[in-house]
Amino acid sequence: MLRGGLIPGRPYVVCGTTGSGKTTLGIQFLHQGVKQGERSLLVAIDEPPSEIRENVRALGWDVGKIRILDVHPTAKAFSKRVSLVEVAAQRSVASLKDAGSSAKSEAMKQAAPEISVQSLQLMLKQELKEIKYSRVVIDSLTSLKKLSEGMDDMNNSISSLLRFLSEARVTSLIITDLPDPTDLEPELFICRGEIRLHKRMIANRIDRCITIEKFRGSAHDTIPRPMTLTEMGIKVDAKKRIPKSSMRMLQAFTQFGK
Ligand SMILES: Nc1ncnc2c1ncn2[C@@H]1O[C@H](COP(=O)(O)OP(=O)(O)OP(=O)(O)O)[C@@H](O)[C@H]1O
Ligand SMILES: [Mg+2]
Repeated sequence: MLRGGLIPGRPYVVCGTTGSGKTTLGIQFLHQGVKQGERSLLVAIDEPPSEIRENVRALGWDVGKIRILDVHPTAKAFSKRVSLVEVAAQRSVASLKDAGSSAKSEAMKQAAPEISVQSLQLMLKQELKEIKYSRVVIDSLTSLKKLSEGMDDMNNSISSLLRFLSEARVTSLIITDLPDPTDLEPELFICRGEIRLHKRMIANRIDRCITIEKFRGSAHDTIPRPMTLTEMGIKVDAKKRIPKSSMRMLQAFTQFGK
């Protein structure tokens, strides 16, 4: 679909709804790099590394050679489905009681003190100084943004992170939730390409497909293609078309419409 693959040394976004296969695609990309003798780094924000290793072992891949940067040891507690305000409230309800807005944002920072888009960039700078990684996956930027709320100038931090990754000549996949079509997230216009994973329930099974929404510097497949998630990982059938009913669903929800 990419007419020869991603252009090396550039940042790309992989987005999709929950369970659409983003983490699997990210790890498959890193695993492929390792097989080719490239160094691969996974920035784990959504799931603890032990859980990732367990899931990947179930896929039969050797992830021993993928370096996993555990960005937030208690990241699970800050799941993207829970807002930071809720986390802060759970942690220190007493201290938040009768608190003014500045005290509240201070409590939020304390709930997740060490991680932000900026601090991740510093961590990556350190990592890349020591080892020349060719492939990096950030899973996920959506969670990182939640953790950075109120700390960074988000647009600047994200463009700085993506510029840093491209200056470091790493091919990176930035994983995000499905973007709100009315909101143009900075990572979407800065990245050099966007791969979108879709899923929907048909009869008694999940039907999956993949689209290339944007790919700078190359022609690409503009037709949605069926995708399967199996015990071997993600498989895309780049010759087949998706059923008409799935196409209608895509037209309703993505920019393939109107
Ligand atoms: N061994 C397997 N065989 C078949 N399907 C699998 C296998 N392992 C995982 N899956 C499917 O992949 C899905 C999870 O994929 P993945 O974790 O990559 O999604 P995700 O987009 O990262 O989700 P999230 O947004 O929650 O992080 C599971 O819900 C399951 O449907
Ligand atoms: Mg995931």
